[in-house]
Amino acid sequence: MNLSVLRREYCRMSLSKQDVNPDPFLQFHLWLNQALEAEIEDASAMALSTVSPSGFPSGRMVLLKELDEKGFVFFTSYTSRKGQEIMGNDQVSLLFYWKELERQVRICGIAQRMSREESAAYFYSRPIESQISALISPQSDAIEDRIWLSKRWDEAKHNYVNETPPMPENWGGYRVAPTEFEFFQGREHRLHDRIHYGQMHGGWLIERLAP
Ligand SMILES: Cc1cc2nc3c(=O)[nH]c(=O)nc-3n(C[C@H](O)[C@H](O)[C@H](O)COP(=O)(O)O)c2cc1C
Repeated sequence: MNLSVLRREYCRMSLSKQDVNPDPFLQFHLWLNQALEAEIEDASAMALSTVSPSGFPSGRMVLLKELDEKGFVFFTSYTSRKGQEIMGNDQVSLLFYWKELERQVRICGIAQRMSREESAAYFYSRPIESQISALISPQSDAIEDRIWLSKRWDEAKHNYVNETPPMPENWGGYRVAPTEFEFFQGREHRLHDRIHYGQMHGGWLIERLAP
């Protein structure tokens, strides 16, 4: 395997300070919509990075489930590795990559737990099978084997055949309130376009970054 020979040019589109919306949320909406219209699979998937108490970062994919002027919402277990890391340090990063459009968006922000009511509204909108999985899986803990997991799932499915499963105490949403955004558009010769939004005097300062 020779990875060093793998390369391609990025030349589909461009991005300039004049092109972008002064409001980064609206700019993000535009790009997400374009990714959805292009029927990119998992267009709402984002890499969430968190930081351990010793400062060691870790990343994993999660799905964006809501987006409004307050922030970016995903759902998970509060006692998972990510949940524990967010408890110690609420500063996180989100990264979207839309390969077909040669675009990535980085968002840094502050993660805050959503209310139980808000989380429940989403939890009960999911298929019952997913509700049961959230109920029986101690996310991020070491477990014996797959059989242990399947047995717990089957038992719970049997128990909740005529009943709605309760939303686990340790399950819910986080809303990430952005403090910065960066929109990246791939360009030829690796001279990519990078437009950064940083917070300034209650508004957004827009700058071009070197590729
Ligand atoms: C495309 C994709 C989407 C995912 N979405 C979620 C999600 O929305 N919530 C979640 O808890 N895990 C999701 N996962 C699983 C996580 O990546 C991860 O394995 C899990 O949350 C445990 O992470 P942790 O041990 O770092 O807390 C997703 C994985 C993939 C590949």
